Amino acid sequence: MHKKNFTASDFGPDFKWGVGMAAPQNEGAAFEDGKGLSVWDVFARKRNVIKGGARPTHAADFYHRYKDDILLAKALGFKVFRFSIAWSRVIPEGVGKVNKLGIAFYHNVIDECIANGLEPVVTVYHWDLPHALELQGGWTSRDMIKWFSKYVTLLTEHYGKKVKQWIVVNEPFAFTALGYMMGMHAPGKMGTANVFPAIYNAALCTAEGGRIIRAHCPHAVIGTSFSISEAKPFTNSDKDIAAANRADALLNRLFIEPVLGMGFPQLDQFDFLDKLHIGTTAWRFIDKLKFDFDYIGLQNYFSVTIKHNPLIPYVSASEVSAKSRKKPHTAIGWEIDPVSFYNMLHRFGSYDGVKQIIVTEGGACFKDHLHGGVVNDTERIDYFRSYLGAVLKAKQEGVPIGGYYAWTLTDNFEWAYGYSSRFGLVYTDFETQLRTVKNSGYWFRDFLNGKVV
Ligand code: BGC
Repeated sequence: MHKKNFTASDFGPDFKWGVGMAAPQNEGAAFEDGKGLSVWDVFARKRNVIKGGARPTHAADFYHRYKDDILLAKALGFKVFRFSIAWSRVIPEGVGKVNKLGIAFYHNVIDECIANGLEPVVTVYHWDLPHALELQGGWTSRDMIKWFSKYVTLLTEHYGKKVKQWIVVNEPFAFTALGYMMGMHAPGKMGTANVFPAIYNAALCTAEGGRIIRAHCPHAVIGTSFSISEAKPFTNSDKDIAAANRADALLNRLFIEPVLGMGFPQLDQFDFLDKLHIGTTAWRFIDKLKFDFDYIGLQNYFSVTIKHNPLIPYVSASEVSAKSRKKPHTAIGWEIDPVSFYNMLHRFGSYDGVKQIIVTEGGACFKDHLHGGVVNDTERIDYFRSYLGAVLKAKQEGVPIGGYYAWTLTDNFEWAYGYSSRFGLVYTDFETQLRTVKNSGYWFRDFLNGKVV
């Protein structure tokens, strides 16, 4: 992608280099110190929803090992540490009684980051709704905005003096589509009757969360994170092009456009969006979906190639896999396509109202093997080199990109893939919880220290 060799300093002195993780994927201690149940704790009990029947109960044990993990992040040279707060750890029932031990835990994590020269970046919501709220409708409930506002307010009261950067919601498209339309993620609901209100509420909470943080922490840098995936037509036929446009509207436009004040996207002859408009306009708060974020977080894991497929409900489109097209892909079949990432960075950078972009996640899973204390994950090194090259090229061409947060520090609980998909720069032995820095971790450290790659 980027022809010349480069190193971290080519991104400029103010560029933020970070590493990220999320509470339900890393913390474990699911039933300790007063934490309430999250939707993932409950969803994982169902049969055949998570690979290998895995549960997030112990995950990567960050709850007990946060000091070591923060030291690892520091040793690898990162300056930003992104983590999420488990809502059910600080407010076990979602609303009402606050859990002091939960509040104290995140104070400890934040203090540990600061003491080690890492800037703590807090994700307010990374998919783990308290189960008690799900019992009352969860993201489909009109009360969601009330619950979420109280939760965000609590976080700003406790952590607002120390935390200078926030991410309000992580990938609303992923948790609404997978969790409330397709049933593949917690809470496992399906259908438009669930997903329409979930989409609306997620968009509303994103903006309202931004407003609340701004009001309580006027000097904080506030962002929110979206998944992005270039959607390319399989052939040049009108039908495939239209199908790719429908996929694009959902994958890339659904949440950014309301934030920017454009409302939910419109597309000719896309019934799903028409119905979403009709359903949500009735709620009359479309103007409240806008918020002037300091930056937009972008997270790209694959591009998709789309063909018209009348058998698929709502979108009449399906993906033609990277494998079947003999394209490079990761261990779970996600297409490796740095050029598409570069294209999307340009596209998001050109939206009016996007002041800055931070790549708040980027990474890949491969079949890692630990042999004699070494994990030689050359594919991941190649992946990072090419994706960072895409960022640098786009940045040098004027896209306002302010940072890159690698995903993720240690192998962790990878949602429906359980423990089978490893994304870490550091290998986790889930039996012993021992960590081994992978060669990609050492590569990143050298890159951040000025080695030209
Ligand atoms: C999520 C992460 C996840 C990663 C890889 C992102 O969509 O924010 O939690 O681990 O994708 O699947």
